Amino acid sequence: MTEARITVNGREAPIAPAPAHTTVLDFLRERGLTGTKEGCAEGECGACSVLVARPGVHKPTDWVAVNACLVPVAALDGQEVVTAEGLATLATADAPDAPGAPPTLHPVQEEMAVRGGSQCGYCTPGFICSMASEYYRPDRCAHGAEGGDTAGGHAAADGQDAEHGPNGFDLHALSGNLCRCTGYRPIRDAAFAVGEPAADDPLARRRDQAAPEPAATRYTQDGGTFLRPGSLAEALRVLRGTPEAVVVSGGTDYGVEVNIRSRRESWVVAVDRLPELRELRRESDHIELGAALTLTDIERRLDGEVPLLAALFPQFASRLIRNSATLGGNLGTGSPIGDSPPVLLALEASLVLAGVEGERVVPLAEYFTGYRQSVRRPDELIRAVRVPLPQSPVTAFHKIAKRRFDDISSVAVAFALDIDAEEGVVRKARIGLGGVAATPIRALATEAALEGRPWTAETVEAAARELRGEGTPMDDHRASALYRSAMLGQSLLKLYAQTTTEAVSS
Ligand code: FES
Ligand code: FES
Repeated sequence: MTEARITVNGREAPIAPAPAHTTVLDFLRERGLTGTKEGCAEGECGACSVLVARPGVHKPTDWVAVNACLVPVAALDGQEVVTAEGLATLATADAPDAPGAPPTLHPVQEEMAVRGGSQCGYCTPGFICSMASEYYRPDRCAHGAEGGDTAGGHAAADGQDAEHGPNGFDLHALSGNLCRCTGYRPIRDAAFAVGEPAADDPLARRRDQAAPEPAATRYTQDGGTFLRPGSLAEALRVLRGTPEAVVVSGGTDYGVEVNIRSRRESWVVAVDRLPELRELRRESDHIELGAALTLTDIERRLDGEVPLLAALFPQFASRLIRNSATLGGNLGTGSPIGDSPPVLLALEASLVLAGVEGERVVPLAEYFTGYRQSVRRPDELIRAVRVPLPQSPVTAFHKIAKRRFDDISSVAVAFALDIDAEEGVVRKARIGLGGVAATPIRALATEAALEGRPWTAETVEAAARELRGEGTPMDDHRASALYRSAMLGQSLLKLYAQTTTEAVSS
């Protein structure tokens, strides 16, 4: 194993002597790259956004924006990072500024400057990096708007709507960036004004070469060790021999604990780049999603193939978070308010759990055993999530939260219904719920109240009464138990209204 090193703005540097828990944000700022800002230190403001070269979907490499406050710098051993400072320098590397001349801005920076997209400037470097990631998205110009991020709405046929520019820019690329003083209209104007990268733009050309391979890393400093095993077998051996090890995937949950609660672990084992956990396979009776694929990877590679997942992704945190977060991580933390479990319960997904002795497949409905507890042993990893085929044709994901995007749900409801087209009878109903019990749950009584009955207002009203009684919702700062129960019932009524409206208008 070699010394841990990172390439920042084209220059390689050792990661030592940074303590093992050091975030990319702190590492950069220690090195004088103070354009990368800390606003919240918990993945909610985007002031710390930087670009990382990752394996691409449409090209060998994508420039992916991530929250530098949540990523341990040791996790980027062998990787390439670009900050707001580096963008202009790298993008104009072939034609450097003459001595004494004002620095040339990157096209994204130029648009932000001329359209008044920055006032105090605190948020600006983060916006610039998120915007640059979308600027370099290979299919942005080729296909216009990316229709998946409309959270219930859809891009117009010409690819343009309020959330998508005529240049194909998807505003959801900025959903994880907050600005407190400029106002978003000039920022949107800048985003919708950027053109295509020039043919000789080095960062655009960089996309045509392979992304850096994940480095097998063992980085020990100040009493902590960050380990990135080279294979699944090695990871499982480490977990068997080091029960105290903490497994991280995208790190979007763990990073918050490190920053806000000063959590310091002696062993952190990263599984997010294990090839065995990053496959997406289509079989005749199921789709297998690698547990360490990021949500953005899955979203773009499935491209709407599983409509219920396509409905989930735009409502799952922000693009910045989805660029790091994984399904395995969301299920591994066992949170009762994670957004993916209700959807995966409705899809009747199973988890492939890998251990030293081999694999076992556990239906998700049998996975959770209590608050943040599951049947997964500490020495097992979630290798993949299996979504059975065929899918039920009527699906919906209703997330009730205080904000439309980038928020934690008070209640989440996912539906997957099979309604006989001729007889109008509900053949099968699967409903997953989050936020109404100590674990995500299936709404079994409601499913029974729907199955075998006609899909009519009368059936739905009776089933909605049943749904209001599912789970054991509680009062907390997000919502009251009464509100949560009421929202469950409303959710089914809304689905019925949507299906009947669509039927009438089609
Ligand atoms: Fe706010 Fe990182 S500092 S998202
Ligand atoms: Fe001040 Fe955005 S320009 S916070």
